[in-house]
Amino acid sequence: MSQLYSNRQLIFSDDNNDKESISVIILETFDTSSSYGLYLWPCSPILAQFIWYNRNDFIGKNILEIGAGTSLPGLVAAKIGAQNVVLCDNPKIDQWLSLINETLKMNSMIADRIRIESLNWYDEKSIDTLIKKYFPSNIDIIIGSDIFFHKKDFETIIALLDKLFLNENASIKFIGTIERRSRSTMLKLNHLIGIWNMKLEIIPLSYFNGETIYPNIVAGHDILLFFIMKDNIKE
Ligand SMILES: C[S@@+](CC[C@H](N)C(=O)[O-])C[C@H]1O[C@@H](n2cnc3c(N)ncnc32)[C@H](O)[C@@H]1O
Repeated sequence: MSQLYSNRQLIFSDDNNDKESISVIILETFDTSSSYGLYLWPCSPILAQFIWYNRNDFIGKNILEIGAGTSLPGLVAAKIGAQNVVLCDNPKIDQWLSLINETLKMNSMIADRIRIESLNWYDEKSIDTLIKKYFPSNIDIIIGSDIFFHKKDFETIIALLDKLFLNENASIKFIGTIERRSRSTMLKLNHLIGIWNMKLEIIPLSYFNGETIYPNIVAGHDILLFFIMKDNIKE
């Protein structure tokens, strides 16, 4: 790969147990002509830490990561023992496939437990193809780091989740991280969640040792971790 790529190693471990840890190598590009998807956003280590800390809930599960970009959370899920991980991003980012394939090689990941798929949130056809391939029974948890980035995309992403939730068992949920870039970010998200008969639950970072993780990447960013699920009571 060209020198515009660089890699960094992230290690997840328990404070009190040095023996239990995983290491993930993430590949990024600093080529300014490429998309924002090819950079490790501060939301990403926070979601990855949540998965690491709650790893027992992810072992043996089928995970779908949307807007995966450099894919740290999905790779952590695969490393801690998720059964299958499907990584998706926008097919318009031409370098994404090669970046992820190279990342998998660098991590010596088992290709048959990780699938790489194109998914444009706006493209009904690619959504239907994904649903046919992996739903109704093959996804337990949907994850996404910093995908609620542009407010214009919020409702499209919620509509996508609604479609995926409808095809699944009642317990499926989305686990995501968001950076509060403006005061209206959460207001807008919460408003849409209500309209779409969903509920949003914020998990404090202190519940999973997320407040101090990777300060060189995360410090100074106002990040929330949350669940989105269907609000069955409202229906
Ligand atoms: C801010 S980046 C976050 C990337 C990565 N999840 C992280 O946290 O490092 C937003 C991601 O959403 C993806 N994305 C944006 N628009 C999309 C669309 N219409 N369909 C699918 N993915 C999209 C981008 O390609 C990018 O990977």
